[in-house]
Amino acid sequence: MELLPENLPANPLPLTKLWLDEAMQERAQPNPNSMSLATVNERGQPSVRVVLCKDLIIDPGYLVLYTNYLSAKSADIDKNPNVAFVMHWDSKGRQVRGEGLMIKSPAKESDAYFLSRHRGSRIGAWASLQSQGISSRDALEQQFAETNARFADTAVPRPPHWGGYRLWFTAIELWLNLESRLHDRARWERSVQLPEQAGPSPIKPGQWRCRGRLQP
Ligand SMILES: Cc1cc2nc3c(=O)[nH]c(=O)nc-3n(C[C@H](O)[C@H](O)[C@H](O)COP(=O)(O)O)c2cc1C
Repeated sequence: MELLPENLPANPLPLTKLWLDEAMQERAQPNPNSMSLATVNERGQPSVRVVLCKDLIIDPGYLVLYTNYLSAKSADIDKNPNVAFVMHWDSKGRQVRGEGLMIKSPAKESDAYFLSRHRGSRIGAWASLQSQGISSRDALEQQFAETNARFADTAVPRPPHWGGYRLWFTAIELWLNLESRLHDRARWERSVQLPEQAGPSPIKPGQWRCRGRLQP
């Protein structure tokens, strides 16, 4: 029977990363790095969708995901960087819930990741205006074919409207599935202040504070 450590660690991220790494190594599910990401729009309406967690940096403590900067989620984040997420590995009986603040990744990091993607995905990033309407499936495929032809003889650069976000953790809850619904859960919190303006000024999060175990 797996339990959280009796003496809960001061920082939840090493265990969070271990769970993510184990799910990836064991291919616990087809997309073991998938997570549901909730954003809130200007009217206070939450919305949620699945994205892929492409990296998790324990120190100073953020995860990285990639998306279209003109998508509905990005419009939400532009107005309100507060988000929540959940990762769930059913076969492992493990869940990570979290909250945080989103800020765009440095352009160089997005460039490097974009170059590592298959050509089809790179073309897709240009061809799909994520979250916008389209008249038909045929029209979408036509957009893809035209974009493919446009880049036939050249490398496909990263579109300016596509790149990474860093999700700076402000709260983490680790959860283990146990018998009789006596699940083991614990929560940690810390403060994070985003810079007033985008730029190189470093983000210095506060210390993690363990809120202890929670009844399941
Ligand atoms: C397994 C899976 C992985 C996904 N990964 C991503 C991703 O990494 N980035 C992304 O923008 N959308 C991803 N999507 C699509 C999103 O769920 C969503 O449809 C899309 O981002 C548009 O969301 P929005 O209109 O709320 O911005 C993924 C969907 C699934 C089911």
